[in-house]
Amino acid sequence: MPTDGRMRLLILGGTQFLGRAIARDACAAGHDVSCAARGVAGAIADGARFIRVDRDEPDGLAPLAGQEFDAVVDVSRQPGQVRRAVAALRPRAAHWSFVSTVSVYADNSTPGQRADTAPLRAPTAPEIEHSTETIYGAAKVACEQAVGAGAFICRAGLIIGPEDPTGRFTYWPTRLARGGEVLVPQAPDDAVQFVDVRDLARWIVHAAQTGLTGCYDGIGPPQTRREFLAACADAVEADCTLTWVDRAFLEAHDVRRWSGPRSLPMWLPLPEFAGFCTRDSTPARAAGLTVRALAESARDTLAWARAAGGPVSGLTADEERAVLAAWHAERG
Ligand SMILES: NC(=O)c1ccc[n+]([C@@H]2O[C@H](COP(=O)([O-])OP(=O)(O)OC[C@H]3O[C@@H](n4cnc5c(N)ncnc54)[C@H](OP(=O)(O)O)[C@@H]3O)[C@@H](O)[C@H]2O)c1
Repeated sequence: MPTDGRMRLLILGGTQFLGRAIARDACAAGHDVSCAARGVAGAIADGARFIRVDRDEPDGLAPLAGQEFDAVVDVSRQPGQVRRAVAALRPRAAHWSFVSTVSVYADNSTPGQRADTAPLRAPTAPEIEHSTETIYGAAKVACEQAVGAGAFICRAGLIIGPEDPTGRFTYWPTRLARGGEVLVPQAPDDAVQFVDVRDLARWIVHAAQTGLTGCYDGIGPPQTRREFLAACADAVEADCTLTWVDRAFLEAHDVRRWSGPRSLPMWLPLPEFAGFCTRDSTPARAAGLTVRALAESARDTLAWARAAGGPVSGLTADEERAVLAAWHAERG
């Protein structure tokens, strides 16, 4: 860390959701920020410098040759990209952060697991790294191994907030704000867990500033689905009623889990996923992660989605209406 506190920070990425938020936070704190990417995903934050690189090319990091950094943050999902970045840049970076995922864990069913003790999936084998069959979590395990010891490994959980390209969380404030009868997945006491992109970004910048190393889950504390929906509904001043529908009915009507078309986003069936949304994030919060109120995330995400036409995934209004009609018809 330089004596004036101003870091030369390199983000490998920075043209998308989290990378852009990291750059934005670091620029606001007065750091000197470079974002290295192809420039395909989107724009970088105001105040950051763009360096065009293609990490799929063997010499793709050549535009960074000879540069030194106080901190590097890598968001890649591809082990080969990570290996090349570590070989080319780690000797010239005082601090290294790798953004991983809670999908690296082997056991999704045991509640309350911690990053330092939970078993990991087997890493992707090098020969299938470029295959479409590569499992995201397994590839991230291989990426973490390529980074090695002495780095900050931030295993992010579901990231929410403005500019989310997945549209998962965005579904809920958007749907609740529309009002009326809202289809929601049983049960009210099921856990949901997430982190606002701005909180995660701030913590990653803080980690670089303070030289934090080790493996952490980058996620807030779990809360119940009832609390989650109530906080979102209040935040967007929703005039709605919730109809809780059980797993068997949802699956029988092709309502899908987690994200994407025909999904109820952020719904994972239990008991298979009882551990996925109940990770013990106290170590992260003890190491500097602060989490804002969900109401702020909900309001800001809705405002962004409306202003920018941000993507929303999940059931369409017609699909939801049809499932609710079938639910009521079955119950007479
Ligand atoms: N979203 C979630 O809920 C969630 C949950 C858990 C973990 N995570 C992790 O959190 C991180 C999210 O990062 P993010 O939002 O910044 O988005 P991302 O979707 O991981 O973005 C990838 C970045 O890498 C760049 N990139 C891709 N291919 C490249 C190439 N060949 N050469 C150079 N750059 C390349 C992209 O820019 P260009 O396309 O412009 O090159 C983009 O900036 C990821 O590590 C993800 O695995 C996300």
